[in-house]
Amino acid sequence: MPIGLADDRAEPVRVAIVGTGNIARNHARALATAGAAIAPAPSGGPPATLVAAADVNDARLTGFCEEFAVEGAYHDLDDLLRKERPDLVHVCTPPGLHHAQALACLRAGVSVLVEKPPAISLREFDEIAAAEGEPATAGPWFATVFQHRFGSGQQRLKALASAGDLGRPLLAMCTTTWFRDQAYFDVPWRGRWDTEGGGPTMGHGIHQMDMLLDVLGDWTEVSAVTRTQARRVQTEDVSLAHVTFANGAVASVVNSVLSPREETYLRYDFERATVEVTHLYGYTDKDWRVTPVEEVEQDVLTAWESGSGETPGEAASRSGHASQFIQVLDALRAGRRPPVAPAESRRTLALIAAIYASAFTKRPVTPDDLAPGTPFYDRMNGGNSQW
Ligand SMILES: NC(=O)c1ccc[n+]([C@@H]2O[C@H](COP(=O)([O-])OP(=O)(O)OC[C@H]3O[C@@H](n4cnc5c(N)ncnc54)[C@H](O)[C@@H]3O)[C@@H](O)[C@H]2O)c1
Repeated sequence: MPIGLADDRAEPVRVAIVGTGNIARNHARALATAGAAIAPAPSGGPPATLVAAADVNDARLTGFCEEFAVEGAYHDLDDLLRKERPDLVHVCTPPGLHHAQALACLRAGVSVLVEKPPAISLREFDEIAAAEGEPATAGPWFATVFQHRFGSGQQRLKALASAGDLGRPLLAMCTTTWFRDQAYFDVPWRGRWDTEGGGPTMGHGIHQMDMLLDVLGDWTEVSAVTRTQARRVQTEDVSLAHVTFANGAVASVVNSVLSPREETYLRYDFERATVEVTHLYGYTDKDWRVTPVEEVEQDVLTAWESGSGETPGEAASRSGHASQFIQVLDALRAGRRPPVAPAESRRTLALIAAIYASAFTKRPVTPDDLAPGTPFYDRMNGGNSQW
């Protein structure tokens, strides 16, 4: 039965994970949290069951399957897809593998939820999106893990901004100043264009830029500078960008893995209020601050406090995998396509491609500069090795 027609299914959604490293553990725990937050399957069981996992590293695979009581253990994704016929695969492998593995799932008729970055080039991304079923609501579909969209603070901001309650957006700041030592980059796939697709712009700031675009919409122009200041990597370890949006707003974006006092900070100056969130790897409602202009103070604060996120339950106020998985499972059971749809994650990936394109070419970049046939469509570094 195609996924997405789950409304009347008696049995839990059958989920598999490929790649059983660090983030896969978050997925396994978050699936359990999400399952507990929503109604059971009609059979009375949990809404989703983790039925299988695949990894090329036997020790990791075995440890993962034991820890999370997963029955199906595979060294090969194709083998898993053939024998288990899951409804949904979570792709938790290094970024350079996402393209081939997402395509393998979709071609086997299985929907796929891919960790960020969804692909390491716009070309790869478009190939994945083109392999979705027709219509994609009935599956198989492809969605990206951008879990920080799903805390109630971000959902409230998005709702108020799109309703016009905050006035026009004028200025924004999007700061990912994190710290990763050299040992972090000793993992073979990190810090390389062909396996990670970039540095902190692609690997770390991507979440915050995705939040920014979730609120401000389409970007129209980017000017950027990147540097490799301190880590032995092929990619940047710092990037700075100025971004212009179709709605007239402008934003300053900073991405770093060199910052001993780590912080994640997003700030929006709307006509009627400043809205800020300061956190590190996940926020709750208390991390948000709203400062309205005096004349409309009560209106704005009342709107903010009465607005709620779409995600139901306890897990909802915290941004994290569980808050996204609640919406994924909910959508599966309702026969809807879940968030985050390809058009939205493509916009975020294109902003990253634009930052690299501007840094390499030393000029402002527009979406047209990233069209199929251009160097930065095919590869994030446009085939360059020196900044
Ligand atoms: N959403 C988030 O906040 C978040 C946080 C951390 C990492 N991530 C993303 O998750 C992904 C994985 O990162 P990680 O830190 O868990 O990496 P990791 O290196 O800890 O785990 C990757 C796993 O994939 C396995 N693997 C490699 N090749 C494979 C293959 N061909 N088939 C099956 N398994 C294979 C490895 O053996 C390893 O166990 C990356 O895309 C990363 O950007 C997302």
